[in-house]
Amino acid sequence: MNAIVTEQPLLKVANLGRTFDVSAPFLQRLATGAPRRSVKAVDGVSFAIRPGTTFSLVGESGCGKSTVARLVAGLERPTVGAVEIRKDSGERVRLQMVFQDPVGSLNPRWRIGQSIAEPMARKLGRIERRKRIGELLVTVGLAPSDADKYPHEFSGGQRQRISIARALAAEAELLLLDEPTSALDVSVQAQVLNLLKDLQQKLGLTYLFISHNLSVVRFLTDRIGVMYLGRLVEEGPGEIILENPQHPYTRLLLETVPDLEAPKRDRAPLGGDIPSPLNPPSGCTFHPRCPLAMDVCKKERPELRHSAAGAKVACHAIQD
Ligand SMILES: Nc1ncnc2c1ncn2[C@@H]1O[C@H](COP(=O)(O)OP(=O)(O)OP(=O)(O)O)[C@@H](O)[C@H]1O
Ligand code: SF4
Ligand SMILES: [Mg+2]
Repeated sequence: MNAIVTEQPLLKVANLGRTFDVSAPFLQRLATGAPRRSVKAVDGVSFAIRPGTTFSLVGESGCGKSTVARLVAGLERPTVGAVEIRKDSGERVRLQMVFQDPVGSLNPRWRIGQSIAEPMARKLGRIERRKRIGELLVTVGLAPSDADKYPHEFSGGQRQRISIARALAAEAELLLLDEPTSALDVSVQAQVLNLLKDLQQKLGLTYLFISHNLSVVRFLTDRIGVMYLGRLVEEGPGEIILENPQHPYTRLLLETVPDLEAPKRDRAPLGGDIPSPLNPPSGCTFHPRCPLAMDVCKKERPELRHSAAGAKVACHAIQD
């Protein structure tokens, strides 16, 4: 008997892994005797997103965030593990990616209206389609007359609004937002984040939100996963991770994060450089940069475990 009705996650990834072969070409390897080489871009990542909520993946460049999004979108096949996207009704879930650089996803020779109409699933008559495009433009804070303009006539923030309108045109329920505001000025970032938040509330959208910046995530996240060299090192409710981070890497990220309101600063990684994913450190891969590193950290990889603070943490120094 199962009397308790729980809301199933819309997206679930379990033990997801993706390895890339980055060997030199065969003949070159034959000549130089170089071995095959591979990069574990994503290694044993698990999380779930409930419908209408946001899960943020955070971490420095190269930690595997975009690869997770590409695996979820089906653009990349997992080496191990699984991606499960499903609704209680069993219907197919429509998903759409939104990228950092909206210029790349909009055809420069198409009027905006044509770009927005392209992913529309339903066949609409000309007048109806025009009306729908106008509605979508208004929904994202633009004017119906903008449909006749070309991408170059818009600012970066406006182009990002147009990409969001395209996702809505596709009737996407799950949006994979890969650094959608990173290329924008601080004030414009906040506007786009507010738009995403409003749309989520109105339409019940589900977001996988990717950012290297924890202060951006603060605006709209429900849960946060912190990634380091392909693995989740801390995962849990956003307020717990932001207010009481346990993992030394999450703490480092929070200390070095540029404030959204503050002027732009260089994003040089503090606490040492990021090691090469081609040749990751042994044990806990964070040990060369970690102020708490102990002997065991070089030998044994810590697993994600529940911490007393309420999130899951992969660190030998953190007690359950
Ligand atoms: N198609 C590919 N072939 C080979 N290596 C790849 C490929 N895609 C990603 N990688 C490698 O996998 C690792 C993770 O890359 P990914 O783009 O997922 O990181 P990211 O966290 O999105 O970084 P960024 O913040 O710079 O966008 C990197 O070391 C990258 O070089
Ligand atoms: S396991 Fe060790 S090296 Fe890794 S974060 Fe924890 S204390 Fe630092
Ligand atoms: Mg990326």
